[in-house]
Amino acid sequence: MRETGSLTNLKGTVRILGIETSCDETAVALVEAPDRILANLVDSQIAHHAPFGGVVPEVAARLHVERVPDLLATALRTAGVDWADLDTIAVTAGPGLATSLLVGASAAKALAIRLNRPLWAVHHLEGHVRSVFFGTGRHWLESGSAGLVLVVSGGHTILVQVGPEGRRLVGMTLDDAAGEALDKGARLLGLEYPGGPALEREAEQGDPWAVKFPSGQVSDRFNHWPETVRPELCFSFSGLKTALLYYLRDHPDANRADVAASYLHAVVEAIAARIERGIELLRPAYIGCGGGVARNRRLRERLGRVASSYGLPLLLAAPELCTDNAAMIVAAAADGWAEQFRLPERMPIRPSWAFGTPLDGG
Ligand code: KG4
Ligand code: ZN
Repeated sequence: MRETGSLTNLKGTVRILGIETSCDETAVALVEAPDRILANLVDSQIAHHAPFGGVVPEVAARLHVERVPDLLATALRTAGVDWADLDTIAVTAGPGLATSLLVGASAAKALAIRLNRPLWAVHHLEGHVRSVFFGTGRHWLESGSAGLVLVVSGGHTILVQVGPEGRRLVGMTLDDAAGEALDKGARLLGLEYPGGPALEREAEQGDPWAVKFPSGQVSDRFNHWPETVRPELCFSFSGLKTALLYYLRDHPDANRADVAASYLHAVVEAIAARIERGIELLRPAYIGCGGGVARNRRLRERLGRVASSYGLPLLLAAPELCTDNAAMIVAAAADGWAEQFRLPERMPIRPSWAFGTPLDGG
């Protein structure tokens, strides 16, 4: 009952409804394959989680339950499409918070069964990878050349080689994700939640060279590399956070903007260094970057400089497609980066689904 393959092989216009509820954004999108966005709605729960300083899973799941039906109706109305005009449904099946994933998956299954349509299970990070190829970027997907795409989000930091043979994980973080490092750093600095945007604003007034933070070398002692992963393309951000903790303890009167700018600089430089190493090792035809942290202006500029120094095109996800959204989930399904369930009720969710592995692969 499970298969992969491109939806764009179907005849005529294919309209896909997508649902993404893996964490704290309730997102619904309606897309005409491969990636013409008819509606892309994201309902952020940030204000509800802010008093707790982080995402509270039970609160997230309850808000998804409350918001999904309304977003579905609004998406169809915005796009001027009837339920009967939907050709298929795509949904994030993992990784993410179990209770949050369950809400989107249950809604998607119910719709697919009611409308008698197949259901596509999408890996959340396949969506983030796919987000860099909207618009003109699509040319690179169709070109047949291999590229290198970085996903930097709150929960994940991975480097993926994208080519005609598929997507292969070549680098990953061994501890904290880049966004997590920014969120935790911002918290230590007394900035508001979510930390990434707050740190970006604070850093605007500061000197990035004021404090030298470590660049996040990866320990040789780590020995659980997935087969395709290259140790030199891996990230480690937990030491950076500890360095900030000690710095603030030892310098209680430090200028907060300077420390924020230096900390952000260290994260951006760690990312740029891995991308440069990846370019030298894998010789990609282009580089791309998506995920929530890819909204960061300094990172976007820095990657721009890396790309131009190697003479490579840079595909940056549009800011609204960097943070979690359902359009990227639908686009991934439209290109066959997903598993199809003709019996939707059989689709499992998988909170710790590893990138590049089958959905129920143990
Ligand atoms: O992709 P995303 O919406 O959710 C996950 O899949 O994790 O990413 C959220 C992350 C958070 O860590 C947030 O602090 C970070 O993206 N972020 C930023 C910016 N906007 C969001 N980090 C740095 N600069 C920003 N402007
Ligand atoms: Zn995400």
